[in-house]
Amino acid sequence: MNILADVDLSRSASSMAICPVLSVQPTRALVDEKFKIAVRNLHPEQEVTLHSLHQSEDKDYWEAFGHYTSDENGTVSVTEYASMGGTYTGVEPMGLLWSMRPVPGSRHGLRLRKRDVMSPMVVNISIFSGHLTQGFSEKDALSTVVTERWYLAPGVQRVDVREQGVKGTLFIPPGPGPFPAVLDMWGGGGGLVEYRAALLASHGFVTMALEYLSPEEERTPNLETEYFEIAYHILQSHPQVCPDRVAALGLSFGTSVTLTMAAYSKTAQPRCCVCISGSHVHPINKSLFEVFEHMKRNMLKARIDENNHVIWRDVILPIPTEPDMKVDVGQIKCPVLIVIGQDDQNWATVESTEDIQQMMERSGNGHLLTVLSYPGAGHLIEPPYTPHVRFSNFITQQQRQKVLMLWGGQTKPHADAQEDSWNKILLFLHTHLHQDTPPAARL
Ligand SMILES: *[C@@H]1O[C@H](CO)[C@@H](O)[C@H](O)[C@H]1NC(C)=O
Ligand SMILES: *[C@@H]1O[C@H](CO)[C@@H](O)[C@H](O)[C@H]1NC(C)=O
Ligand SMILES: *[C@@H]1O[C@H](CO)[C@@H](O)[C@H](O)[C@H]1NC(C)=O
Repeated sequence: MNILADVDLSRSASSMAICPVLSVQPTRALVDEKFKIAVRNLHPEQEVTLHSLHQSEDKDYWEAFGHYTSDENGTVSVTEYASMGGTYTGVEPMGLLWSMRPVPGSRHGLRLRKRDVMSPMVVNISIFSGHLTQGFSEKDALSTVVTERWYLAPGVQRVDVREQGVKGTLFIPPGPGPFPAVLDMWGGGGGLVEYRAALLASHGFVTMALEYLSPEEERTPNLETEYFEIAYHILQSHPQVCPDRVAALGLSFGTSVTLTMAAYSKTAQPRCCVCISGSHVHPINKSLFEVFEHMKRNMLKARIDENNHVIWRDVILPIPTEPDMKVDVGQIKCPVLIVIGQDDQNWATVESTEDIQQMMERSGNGHLLTVLSYPGAGHLIEPPYTPHVRFSNFITQQQRQKVLMLWGGQTKPHADAQEDSWNKILLFLHTHLHQDTPPAARL
């Protein structure tokens, strides 16, 4: 008799008998909300794989998976049980999101970014029998739940801004207002990037995503600080905005803009600033065009690693001592929150932050500075659960050259940094934008 056939038969008989129940709660949520995934009605001690699948707007597939074994009652709880293998291990309730990566065979150098914030990011959560590591698309899942992850909460309005030469998008929370506001600026990659602004508006801040480097037009970014002041005033004078409660938030080069405004602007004085993965080092009193020309000359210090990934972090090193080569952060009069990753390979943010700290301490405004510095995190510190990419395709502003840029970071500590810093950024903004203004002089 054929024993192998017998074994096979009994196995298929038992897997036919089960009907696992997969639940994800909530199935519709903001991208920074946690979900709870559980499976019931499995066999005791059954090996299963939980798998997430997302098709990006560019039609690329991203996936993550974890290996679990059900308990004596045939249950798996992703919030309590450890993944024993897969794209993440350990007890990681949100591992199926932050450890997502392009499926094998995908295009190289992808980064997951949402363009259309009016639609959700759709993620299918599935359960498969056994501990699988590949070939998910050829197998039938035991069960699938379709989940929606939104940057935009219900009721948040999206408004195009094309005013006085300024290009941006305004997101306005629901309700009567007026609200505190945030001016949101991304880095040297350019373009109009809306998703973080949409998410900030979902947390109660009128937020304007500002474009200041256009990827489409060939025009050189010959912008003066005036452009940012006009943008600030458009936001500040919006009827739904409390004019004395406007913050500036920047990532990467957006930090240089933010610090410049806070230190020097006579007319655009943010109530507080959030600076993610940036620096105060750039020539002062120059147009953006001249700043980028200067950076270009220092590109000799850029390196290329053995994987052909471009490393920019040395470009601004050593930190200059000349006063016209860095923002005089000693002049800043508002609270500043700096968020950096200690494995940032793109910009010398650790060295910059040390210098900022020393300059502010010497000038007597050191008490206004809070620094969040994360070991193992890279340059692209994004909203929580954004999949970590260590490198991705990047088009340089000056040469219009496509390179693979090394951002840095290790997946798990980077994901932890994103979650921790986002909560602290929201708390910082709430604290400084909602608290009462100092009492006015009595009449
Ligand atoms: C997710 O599941 C739905 C419903 O089964 C299906 O229509 C859709 O194609 C799936 N998405 C992906 C990316 O496979
Ligand atoms: C299994 O169910 C029993 C009865 O409800 C319960 O006492 C036990 O704690 C459960 N086991 C696990 C691992 O949850
Ligand atoms: C920038 O320009 C202003 C106004 O002309 C001037 O007062 C200031 O000293 C300049 N700063 C530097 C660092 O050159």
